Amino acid sequence: MNNQYHTPEGVRDIVPSEYTRKAGLEQNILDLMKGEGFLLMQTPSFEFFDVFASNIGTTPSSQLYKFYDKEGNTLVLRPDYTPAMARAFSKLYFNETAPVRLCYCGSTFVNGDDLNGRLKESTQIGAELYNDDSCEADAAMISLVVNCMKTMGFNDFVVSIGNGNFFKGLCEELGISESEEVALLKLISAKNYYKAKELLAELGIDREHTDLIVNISDAYTSQDSLFELKKTVNNTKCLEALDRLIRITDLLAEDQNEGHITIDLGLLNKYNYYTGVLFRAYTYGSGDAIIKGGRYDNLVKEFGKCSPAIGFGISVDEALIALSGQVGHDTVGKYLTFALTKGRLADKTMDILERAGITCDKIKDKDTRKLIFVNEDLKLRFFLAKGPDVPTYVEHGAADIGVVGSDTIAEENRKVYEVLDLMIGKCRMCVCGPKSCAKLLETRDMIKIATKYPRIAKTYFNEQRHQSVDIIKLNGSIELAPIVGLSDCIVDIVETGSTLRENGLEVLDEICDLSARMIVNPVSMRLQSKRINDLIGRIKEEL
Ligand code: PRP
Repeated sequence: MNNQYHTPEGVRDIVPSEYTRKAGLEQNILDLMKGEGFLLMQTPSFEFFDVFASNIGTTPSSQLYKFYDKEGNTLVLRPDYTPAMARAFSKLYFNETAPVRLCYCGSTFVNGDDLNGRLKESTQIGAELYNDDSCEADAAMISLVVNCMKTMGFNDFVVSIGNGNFFKGLCEELGISESEEVALLKLISAKNYYKAKELLAELGIDREHTDLIVNISDAYTSQDSLFELKKTVNNTKCLEALDRLIRITDLLAEDQNEGHITIDLGLLNKYNYYTGVLFRAYTYGSGDAIIKGGRYDNLVKEFGKCSPAIGFGISVDEALIALSGQVGHDTVGKYLTFALTKGRLADKTMDILERAGITCDKIKDKDTRKLIFVNEDLKLRFFLAKGPDVPTYVEHGAADIGVVGSDTIAEENRKVYEVLDLMIGKCRMCVCGPKSCAKLLETRDMIKIATKYPRIAKTYFNEQRHQSVDIIKLNGSIELAPIVGLSDCIVDIVETGSTLRENGLEVLDEICDLSARMIVNPVSMRLQSKRINDLIGRIKEEL
């Protein structure tokens, strides 16, 4: 590749027609924010590493662009505006006690995974309100989120509001440790309720609290349901969290925002600095939230000043993607699209779907070269894809729902909701090889592992066996590798065990059980929650 002409992976030129649209959108939002009393300011593109260090709770160190200045200090390209703005506010407004409103517009830089379709330099516009811990401040910021969505040109969108303190209060009451709380919240926010139930059972949590915890995301989506929930909890933290949300929704109703607002008590933000109220705005055409924000009352004091704060960031790039996906596309939100895994799983999946009334005869035609199949009556679309591609389609919102093996979900590590274990395609992920290889596993020597699942293999050997391994990625017929001397053993799927038997190999260790799962795009889950939850309910009855 000629580096003189091309840009690095994850950054790009923005052509004049696109830039005109982008600059126009940015201007409209900044005008709106300035009209609400927010002062526009700038922070530098790079800062000292300490501003984004792990104690701050922002982007993980491995995803930061780092370099050194002449004095040997580690510098970081800004991955996230909130800590940079908190630092600047603390310095510039140290003696100020009245509310301060600041806004910004610029690039953030995250060195994430390659080739996942996400930019490494993206544009963010945000607003931050300091020195105000009132419910009125929360409501005003959420109302501004609604107005930003409208100003950008979105009509069909939802803003989900949660309060992390409700979940924290429940965990405290039940004696759930901090690390278990993190694991549990990750499962709840990924809507992986069956795994959450398993974890709660391991922790010895009673049935009543288990039901309450696994239902917090979906069962309490309106203000009325919060009043109901208040009757079932009695610890102060939970009650305060609910009262705050009730007050905020009252205030939002006065501003006539209620059509766009839903409650989600399982909302989680990957940035650990958030302390209470959280919110996100979702719309069609983008697989991720367009706006993310919340209250972060302890962050500013990391930079020397005690000040409550609340703020949000708009992903301008996601907004533009969503707008181009919506404008002129009259099918937006009309169809539910399923991505199914080609091969062994496809027929079994269609059997279950059909029993639940989700039908598509055309997909069964083995001779067709058509790629997408539509059931016009039910407004459903289906396509078949290679297993590893299914989570990618669902993460980006190109499919609303996917059916894929849990091996692929673990390997791909995408942001999708894992909502149902379909109990088909049951098999095991195993370490396999010739019998003689068992000794190598015991001695913890460096061994060569061939696999289609490098992430699963690496996690298993590093975290469970504390063993260093050389991983060789292959794409199929993995059993060949130890036979022809490419590797010592393999990490692969075992279903009946006949491939192993016929090739003189055996299972040396079991990593985990596997089965097919139903996954859902987080935005679809919010925008089409009734339809999707109804489908999930019908499928559950057939299992
Ligand atoms: C899978 C897996 C094993 C085999 C195990 O391969 O990778 O090779 O099935 O099944 P068994 O225990 O019933 O013998 P698949 O057929 O999907 O093809 P691949 O080798 O190309 O991955």
